[in-house]
Amino acid sequence: MLAFNNRIFNFGAGPATLPLSVMQEVESEFLNYQSSGMSIVEMSHRNPLFEEIISTARSRAKKLLGLGQDYELLFLQGGARHQFAMVPTNFGNHDRVIDVIDSGVWTKFAHQEISRLKLMPHLVASTESTKYQSLPKYRPEDLDPKASYIHFCSNNTVVGTQWKEFLKLKGVRSVVDMSSDIFSRVLDFAQFDLIYAGAQKNIGPAGTTLVAIKKDWVDQGRKDIPEIFQYSAHIKHDSMYNTPCCFSIYVCGLVLKWIEDRGGLAGLESENTRKAKLLYSYLDQSSFYRSAVHLPDRSIMNVVFRIGDGHEALESKFVSEAEAAGYSGLKGHRLVGGLRASIYNAQSYEAVKSLTEFMDNFYERHKLEL
Ligand SMILES: Cc1ncc(COP(=O)(O)O)c(C=O)c1O
Repeated sequence: MLAFNNRIFNFGAGPATLPLSVMQEVESEFLNYQSSGMSIVEMSHRNPLFEEIISTARSRAKKLLGLGQDYELLFLQGGARHQFAMVPTNFGNHDRVIDVIDSGVWTKFAHQEISRLKLMPHLVASTESTKYQSLPKYRPEDLDPKASYIHFCSNNTVVGTQWKEFLKLKGVRSVVDMSSDIFSRVLDFAQFDLIYAGAQKNIGPAGTTLVAIKKDWVDQGRKDIPEIFQYSAHIKHDSMYNTPCCFSIYVCGLVLKWIEDRGGLAGLESENTRKAKLLYSYLDQSSFYRSAVHLPDRSIMNVVFRIGDGHEALESKFVSEAEAAGYSGLKGHRLVGGLRASIYNAQSYEAVKSLTEFMDNFYERHKLEL
């Protein structure tokens, strides 16, 4: 079944569904961008038309995040995982620890990269032993006042938890991986010295990684590392130190405009909360489906759930029947199994409603198998 406009409902965690209106715009100007006689994918990044694209995308992103002149905004490559290594490579110091709050598999990987660089990660708190089903708790005195920085992940895509507040020490730099919830809610983004996010969930197609960095920190970055790893080099060249990921940046610019038109982050937060409430309420009243995630820590972006206590045969039936009915990407991350519905900015309320109807229908047909 095709849900609408020949498109299925895509609940995948990323690359994820994008606003239909943006894709239609891309389609309409794909072969001949702004009467240039060529496609955006054929155009030099030195073309004034592309320079306009990247500078507009940059200002839109900064404005939406409420970041001022004291921040630089970059569109890099290599994904969020590249940042796991690039941040400590620039700002790691052999005499100081890097505080890591381990709230899921992605912070674990970031921690591993720090160790690989022979730097000193300090695991402040972790909920790995309870499968990350809640956010770790820690006190200010557990943090190191001399740390090079503290590392967070704001939304734990795989396990479905999300920080509402970030406990850190004044005077210690902070870094946040916002790959799966950037632009989804109102937040004081200027509380962080460095924010990064792979584009492929809430910003646009895979390829580019948005990095916002406090200018006064950039200068403290190491200069004895290859230039390609230095934030200062990318800033000096306006994100064009190497050939940028032009197509992804172009679509990101259009998605950012779409966000502005929907009332900015406040507008999206209220839509996202409404969608998440619908799905969690459905799960909570069910004796068949179950969200094991600690209630106050639940993510409004990635809703992770199980059938019963993890009935794998039924879960796999659920995924294949859902796929056949036009709901794709519902299989949980391979590291944790189960089911997951990613309901990023571009996912509609109607899609979530339709999913709950499918879930109900599946329940009626399979409840005796549990
Ligand atoms: C929170 C988070 N961090 C990092 C990554 C890795 O991103 P990438 O594939 O862009 O390196 C992901 C991917 O899903 C993620 O969700």
